[in-house]
Amino acid sequence: MRILVSDSLSNEGLDILKEHFTVDIHTGLSEDELVDKIKQYDALVIRSGTQVTQKIIEAADNLKVIGRAGVGVDNVDVDAATKKGIIVTNAPEGNMISAAEHTIAMMMAMSRNIPQANASLKAREWKRNKFTGIEVKGKTLGIIGLGRIGSEVSKRSLGLEMNLIGYDPFISEKRAVELGIKLTTVNEIAKVADYITVHTPLIKETKNIIDEEQFALMKPSVKIINCARGGIINEEALAKALEGGKIGGAALDVFVEEPPFNSPLLQFDNVIVTPHLGASTQEAQVNVAIDIAKEIVSVLTGGLAKNAINIPSIKPEAMAILAPYIRLSEIMGKIAGQLADGNYEKVEIAYNGEISGRDTRPLTVSALKGLLEMALGSGVNYVNAPTLAKSRKVAVVESKSESSEEYSSTMSIRLISSGLTKLVAGTVVGDESKIISVDEDKMDIFPAGRMIFAKHINKPNVIGPCCMVLGKNEINISGMQVGRSEIGGFTMMVLNVDSEVSAPILEEVRSIPGILNAKLVTL
Ligand code: NAD
Ligand code: MLT
Repeated sequence: MRILVSDSLSNEGLDILKEHFTVDIHTGLSEDELVDKIKQYDALVIRSGTQVTQKIIEAADNLKVIGRAGVGVDNVDVDAATKKGIIVTNAPEGNMISAAEHTIAMMMAMSRNIPQANASLKAREWKRNKFTGIEVKGKTLGIIGLGRIGSEVSKRSLGLEMNLIGYDPFISEKRAVELGIKLTTVNEIAKVADYITVHTPLIKETKNIIDEEQFALMKPSVKIINCARGGIINEEALAKALEGGKIGGAALDVFVEEPPFNSPLLQFDNVIVTPHLGASTQEAQVNVAIDIAKEIVSVLTGGLAKNAINIPSIKPEAMAILAPYIRLSEIMGKIAGQLADGNYEKVEIAYNGEISGRDTRPLTVSALKGLLEMALGSGVNYVNAPTLAKSRKVAVVESKSESSEEYSSTMSIRLISSGLTKLVAGTVVGDESKIISVDEDKMDIFPAGRMIFAKHINKPNVIGPCCMVLGKNEINISGMQVGRSEIGGFTMMVLNVDSEVSAPILEEVRSIPGILNAKLVTL
């Protein structure tokens, strides 16, 4: 397999990749150059420099994974990658300490005018009064976004004896208490904080989260810090606030356009800037390079994507329990898909018993993959299965119940296609997938290879002729299961066969009196 590394990456990461794959390093490529090259590669490793556009992704016919050495994936068209079935993954933990330390460094540098004083003294000036600063002790810091980096900033700020307030709609009151932060609103932060720092991703909801309205509420002394992403704070509104002397200053590591050579923000004396250096430490660069290299090796050797952005990721401890159910759900999806007729309309996936208490998202994705593969072929994978279901208007409904009668955990797939319903239920025994019912028929089969599912009347002279048809066509039967029902009732027979069953042979089976339907299922 071949890996393209299109931004600089530490040797520690490159060495891991080289142990397993052929690695080409080409930095500074244009979009067209990448479009030309990308077909040859199985994985693309980037930092923030490469813009992975839809055009590049569309040309990436062999690409399986895009690995971002760092956190932000705003330079990747994740939707296009998802549609193409390409995993997008990142290395979110390796640089969080560096980014938090940079935030603190920016806050301190701004409070004590260090960059300005440094420039002044180097210009042979000695202006001690001009650069009188302020202490951070006892001041209120407002933190917007309390994830990895926001939390690390809060820990360090408590050490500086600051008062902390914060806003993050996705963290609990309990977590905020643990961090020593009083949760409040963005506008309240704007009103009362002496320092405001943002640590959210740049998404629709966070773009311009600090805008004219918030600047109007702020104290004239407030200092703003952005070491997350340009655009979370509206740059035009910030420039206006600085111009009108409405705020005390700003420290910026990131910009809407990088490099920000045309930005009016560079002209203010009370704005200090760094060229996107939050993660630029030796430690962070080694960490993210190693993390992303290991992730790429794992994905390309059939393992897990621990930090995938576009598929549910599973922690290794949870994986030990979920793995057999992931296999079961894919098999059940394949069986349901092959037993059904017509266009899929709705899939209801039910989890019962112990498994219902787990994160079942990977199981649902796996069931959809199995199901859609039957209609769409090998282009379906764990990444694009949910998107494909959505785009084909297949409704997916999950339900959970703690109770399960015969087994500790069971799951079922009810597939509604062209108004008809097919129901397949299964469980895991040891590590093996077992089908426990099809429609209303109880079964006891360990599915494998090719199987004929034949619905028939439970009476003499049905099973025998069926075996005769297969026998005379040299098809070996390696296993057989008949569902339980009273004599004369309808039930299901499953025959495991060792070779292909052609359409005419299947038709001959269907024509046997007492056989209501027969379908070949191939796993
Ligand atoms: P994270 O995912 O751990 O945390 C982000 C937090 O933002 C989450 O807790 C989330 O709940 C919160 N959030 C989401 N929507 C929100 C909203 N509408 N309002 C308030 N909070 C919201 O991410 P992280 O690793 O802490 O990274 C934070 C930012 O820092 C990202 O933008 C990342 O790209 C950036 N970053 C920059 C550098 C740099 O070099 N300057 C380095 C690393 C990370
Ligand atoms: C990140 O998102 O990890 C940062 O912006 C750091 C970087 O990649 O330079």
